[in-house]
Amino acid sequence: MSYILAIESSCDDTSAAVLNGDLLLSNMIASQKVHEMYGGVVPELASRAHMQNIVPVVDAALKTAGIGKEKLDAIAFTRGPGLLGSLLVGVSFAKALSLSLHIPLVEVNHLEAHVLSHFLRTPQYHHAPSFPFLCLLVSGGHTQILKVESPSKFTTLGGTIDDAAGECIDKAAKIMGLGYPGGPVIDRMAKEGNPKAFKIARPRIPGLDFSFSGLKTSFLYMVRDHLKENPDFIQQNVNDLCASVQAAVVDSLMEKLVMASRQTGIRQVAIGGGVSANSLLRSRMEEGQEKYGWEAFVPPFSFTTDNAAMVGMAGYFKFKEGCFCDLSAVPYARA
Ligand code: KG4
Ligand code: ZN
Repeated sequence: MSYILAIESSCDDTSAAVLNGDLLLSNMIASQKVHEMYGGVVPELASRAHMQNIVPVVDAALKTAGIGKEKLDAIAFTRGPGLLGSLLVGVSFAKALSLSLHIPLVEVNHLEAHVLSHFLRTPQYHHAPSFPFLCLLVSGGHTQILKVESPSKFTTLGGTIDDAAGECIDKAAKIMGLGYPGGPVIDRMAKEGNPKAFKIARPRIPGLDFSFSGLKTSFLYMVRDHLKENPDFIQQNVNDLCASVQAAVVDSLMEKLVMASRQTGIRQVAIGGGVSANSLLRSRMEEGQEKYGWEAFVPPFSFTTDNAAMVGMAGYFKFKEGCFCDLSAVPYARA
């Protein structure tokens, strides 16, 4: 039995989780609403909100887990990549608590945590891949295909040469005035739309790399041209627009994932990160089981967008290896 408290504060969600080994006991998330009116995350406001949220969120995670803090064996925290001011709140809190409880600290890479979320166990759910497996990591800032050989060995097979998939979807939503973050709104509105209604340029990048800036620009110009003729174009076509842009992004992701599976011969294929909440991507992954002979790993919704449960899981792998860090660990912004 080893109880781990995990802390995630890399962007605009303050989250704390408690695990007993790989079993998740609690996963609390305080999402910050202050950014909505600015159409994106304002770093300074994010770090202030983390400072307000962190104590109550950790408290709630411990209470929900039914664990007193004196029972904890280690503290795992996200060291990066992310917003430095935001990370600093979680990192400092983790250090202070580890000092006062005399327990070790485990630093976690946020992207690796998204990938390792597949190993989390809940009383209702456990569906973990074995090594090696492929993971399409799609978050707000990253789009990568990784070959995961062990909990600590990740090889990047391909990545975006410009925008991330999530960034592209968020920009499309912004162009249509749908607010931030746009991913969940586009997903919902696309359900009532025709994905073939509008032709959006598909990227043509060789190998396993991605590109989304051309797709984004193609969408922007198409909307702008229609608006010249019809000022109500967006309102009248919003569902079709959402469905078309979503299909363009998901097609592009799936094309490269299929290519990666063919090239490596690996048929255990996972997705992770915020965009893995997307219902079209999820259903394409399920279809992949039949179509490409995959065993598909699609995380439960609560483990897709930023959460501390995944940080705890990644931390537990390191804890088992005795891989601790000391108080000199500072946050890093980039991977
Ligand atoms: O992993 P995440 O929570 O934060 C980062 O580490 O970046 O990912 C956030 C991204 C945003 O771009 C958001 O729009 C996108 O995930 N997202 C979605 C959906 N839910 C969140 N994109 C498409 N469909 C969704 N249902
Ligand atoms: Zn993330």
